[in-house]
Amino acid sequence: MHMEPDDQDVGNQAGDAQAVDAQAGEVTEGSDSDTRPEPMPDPVPASNLGGTPISRGRALPRVLAVANQKGGVGKTTTAVNLGACLAELGYRTLVIDLDPQGNASTGLGLDISQVQATMYDVLLHDVPLEDVVEGSSVRNLFVAPANLHLAGAEIELVPAFSREHRLRLAIEPVLADYDFVLIDCPPSLGLLTVNAFTAATEVMVPVQCEFYALEGLRQLSTNVELVRKSLNQSLEISALVLVMYDARTNLAEQVAAEVRSHFGDRVCRTVIPRTVRLSEAPSFGQPIISFDSSSRGALAYRDLAKEVSGGTPERTR
Ligand SMILES: Nc1ncnc2c1ncn2[C@@H]1O[C@H](COP(=O)(O)OP(=O)(O)OP(=O)(O)O)[C@@H](O)[C@H]1O
Ligand SMILES: [Mg+2]
Repeated sequence: MHMEPDDQDVGNQAGDAQAVDAQAGEVTEGSDSDTRPEPMPDPVPASNLGGTPISRGRALPRVLAVANQKGGVGKTTTAVNLGACLAELGYRTLVIDLDPQGNASTGLGLDISQVQATMYDVLLHDVPLEDVVEGSSVRNLFVAPANLHLAGAEIELVPAFSREHRLRLAIEPVLADYDFVLIDCPPSLGLLTVNAFTAATEVMVPVQCEFYALEGLRQLSTNVELVRKSLNQSLEISALVLVMYDARTNLAEQVAAEVRSHFGDRVCRTVIPRTVRLSEAPSFGQPIISFDSSSRGALAYRDLAKEVSGGTPERTR
């Protein structure tokens, strides 16, 4: 197969009959539109989402939970790279790693086996959030790390006092220091994610452009509604972000169209392409804008940051 110098950006090879997903090492044949099953039933009425689309002017600071209980759909990639691009725009941004896998922490260059204190200590041992926050290679971008200790939190939080509010209470004292707080959720709807939903006002949902993309969104939306009713009235699903979009396949286009028809203006205009550069950056501990500043992934996340921020001026301190 002929490889362009930019062969890592697989989406550049539009029209290539046979394509290699370099990350998975898989070979796929041409268009997969023939194999697509019947459209899925309406996963969730858009009226359940609450609030308004993400691009409307919103006051800072903003707290967004990046969530989807499906694993590997691009939550961490979005939290890290959107965070970096917001920081590049001048917004003071904190990425809170709420996943025991610690991928957001390592993706921002931290050695999570060495960090002194983590989100586990914040949630379970009342360590102030500001004590665990670390800097990053990007100006204005900060990270509150997690590591495997956090895996115990799902269980240890169960009998804890105000267990759903731990994160909200931890963020409150530092909120004035930031313009954006992005919470990278684990792939579940357990207590950690409930803590994120209780602390946030917005939920951002990365949606992988694959057939089962819509699966699970009803459950996610039901949980958001439950949290809105009982714990956090201001919570809304403000944005769905189409990620890992592969322009070579009809399927990606069809899924994108289906998601847009269900969720309308909640779907960000910016679409994140599938590019191997985005999947390589974390192993260098760098967001894409540092790793390969002019790559398609970097440009896409920069566009997303502009769309999400809506050009709201950063606050003066
Ligand atoms: N746009 C993209 N193009 C190519 N690879 C991507 C893209 N976005 C994410 N990936 C890769 O896909 C994998 C899953 O992404 P990511 O870790 O962001 O998902 P996640 O939803 O946070 O996963 P988990 O549920 O395990 O926390 C990673 O290897 C990541 O590097
Ligand atoms: Mg993740």
